[in-house]
Amino acid sequence: MRFAYVNGRFCRHGDAAIHVEDRGFQFADAVYEVWSVRNGQLMDADGHFGRLARSLGELRIPEPRCRPALEHIIRELLRRNRIRDGLVYLQVSRGQARRDHAFPKKPITPTIVLTCKRLDFAAADARAATGIAVITVPDERWARCDIKTVNLLPNVLAKQMAVEAGAVEAWQVDADGFITEGSSTNAWIVTKAGTLLTRQADHGILHGITRARIIECAQRLGLDVVERAFTPEDALDAREAFLTSATSFVTPVVSIDNHVIANGEPGSLTSALREAYLGEA
Ligand code: PDD
Repeated sequence: MRFAYVNGRFCRHGDAAIHVEDRGFQFADAVYEVWSVRNGQLMDADGHFGRLARSLGELRIPEPRCRPALEHIIRELLRRNRIRDGLVYLQVSRGQARRDHAFPKKPITPTIVLTCKRLDFAAADARAATGIAVITVPDERWARCDIKTVNLLPNVLAKQMAVEAGAVEAWQVDADGFITEGSSTNAWIVTKAGTLLTRQADHGILHGITRARIIECAQRLGLDVVERAFTPEDALDAREAFLTSATSFVTPVVSIDNHVIANGEPGSLTSALREAYLGEA
C-alpha cells in the first residue's frame, strides 16, 4: 500500500485529498521541492531545504514545519512506503480560503502535502550511457522562474512537445535567443575550448541544487566553469552538452532539434562529472 502525508497525518495515497478551495489548486499559489533518495538518504538535503525556505519567503507563505519536523515526516513516509531509492515530493500552498485573488486578510494555515515514489536508477544509468535528444522551444514562462512554484503549465507543454518529437527534454529559449533551461532540468554545454557553460542564476531559471553541486564538482576537478547564457547555435557547436536535476543527476545530451552534437555520443567530461557527483552523494 502507498502512503501520503497531508496536513498532519499519514493516509492511504488513494484517499489523500485537499480542499477544492485550496489556493494551490485555484491559483498555483504554492511552492514545491523534490529530493532524490539513494540508499535511504535524501540527496543534497541542505540545498533543497534552503531553496524551500527561499521560495516560501519570496511568496510570503509561512514555513509550515521546521526542518527537523519535516525530516522526521519524510523519514516516516519513506519507511511506510518501503522506499530506499526514489524521490520525495513536497508541496506547500498558502492554504484554503474563499476564492479571491488577494491573500486572505486573516492568517490561514498553509497546506502541506508529501508523497514519495520508487525510481529505477538503473534506467537513468542506461539513459546516461546513450545520451538523450532535446528540442528547443520558446520560453513562455513568467519572469520569476527562480521561485519553485507549482505554476508549471508552460513547462508541461514544453515537455509534451519534446515527447511528441521523440525527444526527452525541451530547452527553452528566451526572447534574446538564449537558452534558459529545460522544462525540469538545467542546461549545460562544454565549449570546444573545454569551458563549461551554464546560464547565470538569474530570475530566468530555477537555481538548481544539482547545478550548484556540479559547479563545485567541476571546480574540484580543475575544470573551467563560466556562468553565462548560451544559444542553440553555441550548443550545436559544442564539444559536449548535458542537463542536471535532482532525479536525472547529470545526463548527456547528444542531439538538439535532430542535429547531432560532436560525434553524437556522451562526452567524457559529462561522464566524469556524473561519476564525481554520484560518488560524492
Ligand atoms: N525539477 N529547472 C527546472 C525548471 C526544474 O523544475 C528543476 C527541477 C531543475 C533542476 O533543479 P534541481 O537540480 O534542484 O532538481 C531545473 C524537479 C526535479 C521536478 O520538477 O520534478
